[in-house]
Amino acid sequence: MAQIELSGIERTFTLGDSEVHALDKVSLRIEAGEYVAVMGPSGSGKSTLLNLLGLLDRPDAGHYLLEGRDVTTLSADEQATVRRARIGFVFQSFHLVPRLTAAENVALPLMLAGVPAHERTPRVARALKDFGLQARADHRPEELSGGQRQRVAIARATIMQPAVLLADEPTGNLDRHTGEEVTALLEALNADGTTLIVVTHDPAMGGRARRRLMMEDGALRQDLRAGAATSPTAAPT
Ligand SMILES: Nc1ncnc2c1ncn2[C@@H]1O[C@H](COP(=O)(O)OP(=O)(O)OP(=O)(O)O)[C@@H](O)[C@H]1O
Ligand SMILES: [Mg+2]
Repeated sequence: MAQIELSGIERTFTLGDSEVHALDKVSLRIEAGEYVAVMGPSGSGKSTLLNLLGLLDRPDAGHYLLEGRDVTTLSADEQATVRRARIGFVFQSFHLVPRLTAAENVALPLMLAGVPAHERTPRVARALKDFGLQARADHRPEELSGGQRQRVAIARATIMQPAVLLADEPTGNLDRHTGEEVTALLEALNADGTTLIVVTHDPAMGGRARRRLMMEDGALRQDLRAGAATSPTAAPT
């Protein structure tokens, strides 16, 4: 059983008189622990695909099995429960709650899950330390740098220890050096077993993933695996 299995996924948006097939018959299997980069031109459907995988949106047709369970037919509440327990999401523009401190942002998923305060506090402190944010715990997002904001966002996305981590251009608003730090953090989580699916425009970042999905006009055009195109004797890159 693949961790993620999409079959015949369609997502159509209506804009005035015209229809946009943001996803057009997408079928795909992703195993637990994979590191996948989703690439392709602007408008090719990358974010639409990630939003569906993250249960932030629903397909118009097709089925999505997450860990063997059909999540397309769940109610919104049931989807929210699955999302909180199994999925972390990191966005290009961080999406932190502006009025909350770094520690409070990281604590949010635990609060939503009903984890009591005496358990929350040490878990949040531990996460902030893991991401080098202990000195920024009481700062609000506007008082943090872009890289610090994204680290808070990653800490929040992973505090529930999700099985799947989705990131939509997580380095898109960061300078090169800071982006590399954030990439390294995401890759460390993947090395620990979290499935990592990253939308990126950056060929360097895409090249680091063991698998690249190339999208075009809402369809999956290529599914490339690192090493697959080289001869058996060639060293993997
Ligand atoms: N909520 C929406 N309403 C209408 N059209 C939408 C909506 N969301 C996406 N689309 C359209 O669906 C297509 C795919 O959009 P999507 O955001 O998935 O592209 P993308 O590959 O993530 O692009 P980018 O690299 O620019 O982020 C585009 O043509 C877009 O205009
Ligand atoms: Mg996008």
